[in-house]
Amino acid sequence: MLASGGLIDPFARRITYLRVSVTDRCDFRCVYCMSESMTFLPKAELLTLEELDRLCSAFIREGVNKLRITGGEPLVRRNIIEFFRSISRHLGTGLLDELTLTTNGSQLHRFATALHDCGIRRVNVSLDTLDAEKFSKVTRWGRLQQVLLGIDAAQQAGLRVKINTVALKGFNEDELESLVEWCAGRDMDITFIEVMPMGDIGNENRIGQYWSVKDVRARLEESWTVMDTAERSGGPARYVRLVETGQKVGFITPLSHNFCESCNRVRLNCVGTLYQCLGQEGSVDLRSVLRGRPDDDAALVDAIHAAIARKPKGHDFDYSRGTVGGQMSRHMSHTGG
Ligand code: 5AD
Ligand code: SF4
Repeated sequence: MLASGGLIDPFARRITYLRVSVTDRCDFRCVYCMSESMTFLPKAELLTLEELDRLCSAFIREGVNKLRITGGEPLVRRNIIEFFRSISRHLGTGLLDELTLTTNGSQLHRFATALHDCGIRRVNVSLDTLDAEKFSKVTRWGRLQQVLLGIDAAQQAGLRVKINTVALKGFNEDELESLVEWCAGRDMDITFIEVMPMGDIGNENRIGQYWSVKDVRARLEESWTVMDTAERSGGPARYVRLVETGQKVGFITPLSHNFCESCNRVRLNCVGTLYQCLGQEGSVDLRSVLRGRPDDDAALVDAIHAAIARKPKGHDFDYSRGTVGGQMSRHMSHTGG
């Protein structure tokens, strides 16, 4: 039984999906995401694991039934497994249907079993190339082999793995078919993401250019029978199925507006700021409520409802308002994509 009627926004959309960034830090420096000299937030700014739990639990009690943990790289946050273990109690009560995470895979070899023990059944792993040299170029600090071992460990632990690939013209264009085939061989779905101008990534090391997922799809059609599916996740992804492999392939155009009508989600960054829309700057500071009213969950719930009541209709509405010259000033690693 829900204590309230759930989280319904002014456009009658039910908010059931919360994405939470638990750290802005990462052990990689992907060229489209961060500059090499990225500066991170002081630790005191971050929500503690206890604060994260209190906040997520409040959302869950109010009707969120799917929680995705992101970063930065969530698995570099110290003691993050304790958070997963604690928040997984809501899976036991049935309030939470799914607990998932998005990871770069670098620490999966260490944590796969523990994650499965916490009730996690699916993970999204970001992987843009299967070429070790290209991998270290695009991530600057990453090692492909470690990620591949992580994916092995995840599958062995019983986690279903989905691969997220940023489509970069001139970088992984030549690997489209091999990535899809590699995933098919391992029974993994794959989603292609258009590169977005988010945050200051420095000018150096620009790898690849914008490659529209429309073109990616057209390329797939040269090798496979691509069948549209009606499946939607309430987010920016669209899915097709490749008849020959049975594989699901997703396409994400982050700032297209064609999914706003069915949007079911809000995003919380690692300092407790709630973003009601991926493509707009509008936000609400929930950390001040958490810290100002440490024992008052009613105040927290009020603040959450007030934030949902201000969720905008979509980011196509007044495009110029949320962006600076077509560029979102906040980092993907801040709000977790
Ligand atoms: N454009 C597109 N995708 C990005 N990601 C990070 N920064 C960007 C960007 N500027 C992706 C990562 C990962 C997901 C969490 O977000 O590669 O797949
Ligand atoms: Fe880290 Fe992901 Fe950003 Fe790469 S894209 S630097 S893995 S947060």
